[in-house]
Amino acid sequence: MRATAPGYTHDRDRLARRRLLQILAASAIGSALPVRLAAADRAPAPGTMDYCTTPPRFDQPLHVPGRGGLQGHLRAGSDVLALEAVTRASAPGLAVAARVAGREYIDPTLVVTRGTALKIALRNALSEPTILHWHGLTIDTANDGNGEALASPGSTFDYAFTMRNRAGLYWYHPHPHGATAGQAYRGLFGLLVVEDDEELALRKALEIAPGETEIPLVLHDRRSGAPDRYTPSPGDLMHGWYGDESLVNFTARPYLDVAQTRYRFRVLNASNARIYRLGLRNDRGDALPFLLIGTDGGLLEAPRTASELFISPAERVDLLVDFSPIAVGGFALLESRAFDPMHGELASTTRDPEGAATRHEHDHSNHGAAEGTSAPTSASDGAPFALLQFNVRKRGSTALPPLPTRLSAPTPLASSTGDARPLRLGFAKGRWWINDHVYDVQATPIVVAKDAVETWLIRNYHTSMPHAMHLHGFQFRVLERETSPDPLAPLVVDARGRFVTDLGWKDTVLVWPGESVRILIDFRHPFAGEQVYLFHCHNLEHEDGGMMLRVKVG
Ligand code: C2O
Ligand code: CU
Ligand code: CU
Repeated sequence: MRATAPGYTHDRDRLARRRLLQILAASAIGSALPVRLAAADRAPAPGTMDYCTTPPRFDQPLHVPGRGGLQGHLRAGSDVLALEAVTRASAPGLAVAARVAGREYIDPTLVVTRGTALKIALRNALSEPTILHWHGLTIDTANDGNGEALASPGSTFDYAFTMRNRAGLYWYHPHPHGATAGQAYRGLFGLLVVEDDEELALRKALEIAPGETEIPLVLHDRRSGAPDRYTPSPGDLMHGWYGDESLVNFTARPYLDVAQTRYRFRVLNASNARIYRLGLRNDRGDALPFLLIGTDGGLLEAPRTASELFISPAERVDLLVDFSPIAVGGFALLESRAFDPMHGELASTTRDPEGAATRHEHDHSNHGAAEGTSAPTSASDGAPFALLQFNVRKRGSTALPPLPTRLSAPTPLASSTGDARPLRLGFAKGRWWINDHVYDVQATPIVVAKDAVETWLIRNYHTSMPHAMHLHGFQFRVLERETSPDPLAPLVVDARGRFVTDLGWKDTVLVWPGESVRILIDFRHPFAGEQVYLFHCHNLEHEDGGMMLRVKVG
């Protein structure tokens, strides 16, 4: 069971040593953490990739979603909710708009109680086809918005489904195959907050108030020169589209004034391709630990202390941060720490022993061309930078309410009904493949029997790059990670090689080069008849390039 195909096994020593050298050379501060800032007044510059040498300039208040406007909270009930995909004159150029009870919303944060029957009418006011997908939801194919049915310009697509998911932070984004990346980058996405009794009990116990001490943080990056233009080069299409400026809730250089108390931050990585090694530090440069309380599919059973975690495109983390150790007048930073993005391995001369000299043979000519055409404005993945500065402005009024030891009821996991299904991620002929397939609307390479519970063994080739693998329609569990690259060892939290973000319900899992990740998926569903879902990389350039397969579920 634990056998890993040759070529998918990591040559630990070789990679570890080379990557460490690469990252030390690439980064002014090296990968050895914790990193100390020279002085408290030398806060990193936001969004610049060399933040230890530049003076502070977090001068824009973070946008905090309110009752309307950008990301405004919009409760969705049983009335038809009319959404519109619109073009805007200002960057990033596209948005989901709504007008309800005299209020206007841009990319609204939809708030839904579990069990609600929803009716949503999406009118497409763009000049190109689109569709919205509800990322993370337990939903039938007809309402999934998987791109196989589209809203043409001027038409309306009607959704009707019941919210079956646990409380958690989900999101909606475009999914027209081949045009997903550009539309998402240009702003056509928003959050979806599901509430249930456990969620309301937690807010009450922690005395946390949405909009005040509970704040969503939507991370993405843009190319500052032309933030509303999506023009990927061949290199961007291969590695992903990276920006040179980081945004939180659409705010560049953001700061947030906080009190010496506990805050809940619900984080979504809405970037096309960028992976963040997320952590916090205080104004003395020391790491500030936090609590992880939830993942993609909602609350963990119990909180976990962490000092950093990786969040790849489409993943969510639910964090509690206590600012009481920081003096009034001081600050803390949310940052992405240096890591080896492991993209360079594509140039390796290693051949896949399984590849029968064709499929997995690396296409060096294409790679060379791609490197040469990388946009000069894009900052590479893995560079350290700060995202958000928290300015501690006032005392906390009372002692912090005690943290509940149990956040959510444990869900017993079913055991798999058959052998593990192998899924190999690889690169050949200038594109990314899953099991030697690319997306074809006519083909269904994965067929799951009715009521099956499956283990999937996702193996990423060791000269690949990290892929954020996402399954529509089901939340799954990460059982085990094997042969993870050595630089990730400090993030492993258990004997099964898992990271802290692997301990809850997931719909997206990052698979590093050389890694084998075992996940458990319970495919039993409440829908009538066969359903078709998608399994794909959430690096949106990879997805649009066809790193996506149809999954038929009986
Ligand atoms: Cu969030 Cu198929 O995607
Ligand atoms: Cu999805
Ligand atoms: Cu990918």
